[in-house]
Amino acid sequence: LWSECWCCESATLLLQLVAQGQLDMEGALTARDRVGIQDFVLLDETTEAAFLSNLKKRFSKDLIYTYIGTLLVSVNPYKELDIYNKKQMDIYMGVNFFELPPHIYALADNAYHTMLTEFNNHFILISGESGAGKTEASKKILQYYAVSCPSTTLLNTVRDKMLMSNPVLEAFGNAKTLKNDNSSRFGKYMDIQFDGQGDAVGGHILNYLLEKSRVVHQNHGERNFHIFYQLVEGGSDDLLHQLGLERGCQHYNYLTQGQCAIVQSINDKNDWKTVKNALQIINFDETHLFEVIASVLHLGNVRFDSDSKGHALLNNNTELHWLLGVDAHRLQEGLTFRKIEAKKDQVLSPFTTDHAIYARDALAKAIYGQTFTWLVNRINESMENKDPSRKTVIGLLDIYGFEVFYVNSFEQFCINYCNEKLQQLFIELTLKSEQEEYEAEGIEWEPVQFFNNKIICDLIEEKHRGIISLLDEECLRPGDATDLTFLERLEEKMGNHPHFVTHKLADKMTRKTLERGDFRLLHYAGEVTYCVVGFLDKNNDLLYRNIKDVSLQLILCQIKMCFRLYCKYRRRPETVVTQFKSSLQKLTEILMAKEAWYIRCLKSNESKQSGQFDEALIRHQVKYLGLMEHLRVRRAGFAYRRKYDVFLKRYKPLCPATWPHWRGVAADGVEVLVQHLGYLPDEYKMGRTKIFIRHPRTLFATEDAYEKCKHELGECQLMIEKILLIESCWRGTQARKEKEKRAWAVKVIKKFIKGYMTRGQAKNTDNSEYLAFVRQNYLNRLRDNLPKTVLDKTTWLTPPAVLTETSEMLRKLHYRLMVRKYVRGITPQKKAQFQMKLITSSIFKGKKDSYPQSVAHPFADSRISEEDINPRVIQMIRNERIKYCVPVIKYDRNGFKPRQRQLILTQTAVYVIEEAKIKQRVLYTSLKGISVSNLTDSTIVFHITREEPKQKGDLVVQCDHLFELLTKLCVIANKQNAIKVVQGSINFEIQAGKGGAVDFSTGPEPMVYKAKNGHLMVVTCQNPALLCHSRISLLMCQKTLNGS
Ligand SMILES: Nc1ncnc2c1ncn2[C@@H]1O[C@H](COP(=O)(O)OP(=O)(O)OP(=O)(O)O)[C@@H](O)[C@H]1O
Ligand SMILES: [Mg+2]
Repeated sequence: LWSECWCCESATLLLQLVAQGQLDMEGALTARDRVGIQDFVLLDETTEAAFLSNLKKRFSKDLIYTYIGTLLVSVNPYKELDIYNKKQMDIYMGVNFFELPPHIYALADNAYHTMLTEFNNHFILISGESGAGKTEASKKILQYYAVSCPSTTLLNTVRDKMLMSNPVLEAFGNAKTLKNDNSSRFGKYMDIQFDGQGDAVGGHILNYLLEKSRVVHQNHGERNFHIFYQLVEGGSDDLLHQLGLERGCQHYNYLTQGQCAIVQSINDKNDWKTVKNALQIINFDETHLFEVIASVLHLGNVRFDSDSKGHALLNNNTELHWLLGVDAHRLQEGLTFRKIEAKKDQVLSPFTTDHAIYARDALAKAIYGQTFTWLVNRINESMENKDPSRKTVIGLLDIYGFEVFYVNSFEQFCINYCNEKLQQLFIELTLKSEQEEYEAEGIEWEPVQFFNNKIICDLIEEKHRGIISLLDEECLRPGDATDLTFLERLEEKMGNHPHFVTHKLADKMTRKTLERGDFRLLHYAGEVTYCVVGFLDKNNDLLYRNIKDVSLQLILCQIKMCFRLYCKYRRRPETVVTQFKSSLQKLTEILMAKEAWYIRCLKSNESKQSGQFDEALIRHQVKYLGLMEHLRVRRAGFAYRRKYDVFLKRYKPLCPATWPHWRGVAADGVEVLVQHLGYLPDEYKMGRTKIFIRHPRTLFATEDAYEKCKHELGECQLMIEKILLIESCWRGTQARKEKEKRAWAVKVIKKFIKGYMTRGQAKNTDNSEYLAFVRQNYLNRLRDNLPKTVLDKTTWLTPPAVLTETSEMLRKLHYRLMVRKYVRGITPQKKAQFQMKLITSSIFKGKKDSYPQSVAHPFADSRISEEDINPRVIQMIRNERIKYCVPVIKYDRNGFKPRQRQLILTQTAVYVIEEAKIKQRVLYTSLKGISVSNLTDSTIVFHITREEPKQKGDLVVQCDHLFELLTKLCVIANKQNAIKVVQGSINFEIQAGKGGAVDFSTGPEPMVYKAKNGHLMVVTCQNPALLCHSRISLLMCQKTLNGS
């Protein structure tokens, strides 16, 4: 349960919501018995009756929203529901679409989050008939984004402008109609631009087909655009005076035709304040704008009389003065004469009164139409985001739904054409996305049975053959084209089209339902009969040439530019329907590049009453909005699909193998689960990430089973709650500890860094701890890395600056200590050795090349044991005490023949012994000097003072233990100063007056031989590794001298 809870991302939120009583823990499914089904896709029967019954059930409980998959159906409640507050917004923010009851916020939030995660563009298409709640829905979405998106001061101004564009556009583009007191008389597409962080940073509006005819004519019970009433009712006295207006709508022809200028449900004075405030926020200088509005009102009051010939005459021209900047005379002329250009001449042909009224109204419509376009452009400028970085957008399309009146005219034709196009778009996008999902999930696509309305779109818009082309042809062709000739053309061309019928083409039965001037189209949503009267005029929307010229004089600076462009356009402008067609084409392109979300608004009753569910009216709308078609497409193949993990999470209590935990892959768990539940192979398909269930009844059976074991889960939930509480406390404590630890660490690290930076300074509060640390650290490291022997001079750690002095002292101490330990550890024998070695060093160090190699070899007491000395010799010299014996090679003084001898040092003399014979005795007193070479050889020359001529000459020997022998000799005979290390040759005396010499040199091999000059030549090895004090070298020397 524990891990279960944590892997459920929204568990905590849901528990909170359950605790607050805001939400039933179960999603759409469990609520179905109480308040109908929250998603029509789950209806077992896809009949219209079942659809309506579900809608009614929910509406009766004020549940106005229901899904068809991700499409939202909304029924106008005609009362304020407490579901649009901040609390509700918070509930829906970032929560999965199907986890909460249907709401417009859920759709807005999902579009927003999908946009952020997938970084792509979206649009929300809001459609429905007049008064169904489209504009309210789009406002709710804007408000949701205003609250839920991140905000900054800068963004708030953008956001304010976007929100404030609504009342302004509503004032100029909405009017009271019989169906809706605030009916939008234009189509509106608004892009809200978001940056990468999800901030709303800009906006752009496209407007479609403003119902300009309302400016000059309103049906009974309807009004002109709100702004006119707001101005004359709410405008200040000063402003009205300035504009030449009087307070009260009754003074103006254009405001009184519907005979309902004042309505209870509309407060023009308050609305005026709202609009003024909104204009300020959008940064408008509104004076000129109101001058245009006033001009239209004045124009409406221009009346005509007819003279005796029936030509129109201006009744009085006081009103004309208020048409600012226009030459009254020319205007008067423009309104009462038609200018005909014949070659270079211009002829004025007088109007009848009807023509004059037509010209006046055309001008008024043109002025208002252009002003509206200009206004939208200005709003766009104010909301524009100039930052070039990439943005994603959510487009809101609030556009007229299908319209079917008792008499349907050109306007309904355009509107219904627009709806056909949007249905086509929906089919393409929905089928495409369904198909893509099947493909992504690896499920075979099954063809869907639905009606494709492309045939109707073609009927209307096909080039050269469609209704629009034929209408344009009739408008443009010379001659007496009329609405009826247009109808005839239609009959000619469309004669046997299955979706087109006229009185003439119809069979007997149908003919009864058609007038002669009617044509009927079988739209995807049903039949609509259009009356052709006015089609040509409305499509032409012509302004007489001289009226255009007059309009050129309008110096109202804001609209001057756009008006001038319009008027200067000498070529005949495109017809209304063609303009509309191309704007729809553009809109389709805009929408095709985005991901679609749909809101279908339904009007609950005609009398705008709350709580009334007019079944007939709603059935009609369900049909015309194509909701059943939509449901069919959505239900195509599989009614229900969910991600494996979501499905498993909900239904795993139903199978012992998956409850409480399924340890493997979610898809396998789902397979085990549905097998356990007995799903038949045809009832479901396993996709890559989702399970697809064909019939809702399969799902409901599963859901019913789930309901049964729910109470057990309830207990589990209580446990989960407690576990969560304990866990959160525990985690809290842990986190607090961690926080303290981190804070401490931050402090220490900061101090350390500061200490490091000031380490060179004298000790202060910033660096004292750092320096102490450095000291301790150095000493600790030093302790572990002290040199182990006195001879090791390299491993002493380099100290930090603060410890240089200390380190030096410690180093000395340590070495002294090691020396002391060493000294204490040596034996008297070793000490004697060292003293001897010390003497050797003082004589030879740095002088003789073989000295360094000798250091490591300890001196022996003697190199020949007494047993190896002939007893006779011992006998002879016993009383002198033998101190040291060593084998040597003695070279004859003449000829340098080598001879093996023993050299014995006694207390008083050196003896050269051959077996039992003492060959030579040299008293220390007569030993005047000892010479050795500076090379690596081991030749010694003893220089002897001869007291008598017969006495033997100097002694030349070679001794492997040269250093030992000479050191012993020094100690015994105190001859330290007598030893000479000579460079070059050593001269010696062979006998009195006869000298000899030993020459020394280096070579690749050691050799001793008699040189041609009669000297003894000693060649030493260059390579110290082959030093000739070895036995081998000695033998070689002998060999050389023996001549071999
Ligand atoms: N969700 C809602 N809650 C309460 N009242 C609503 C809601 N939606 C619409 N209404 C009521 O219905 C009226 C008409 O709604 P709205 O102006 O949005 O219709 P519309 O579909 O835009 O119509 P039109 O096509 O004429 O512009 C609103 O003025 C409001 O009184
Ligand atoms: Mg509207």
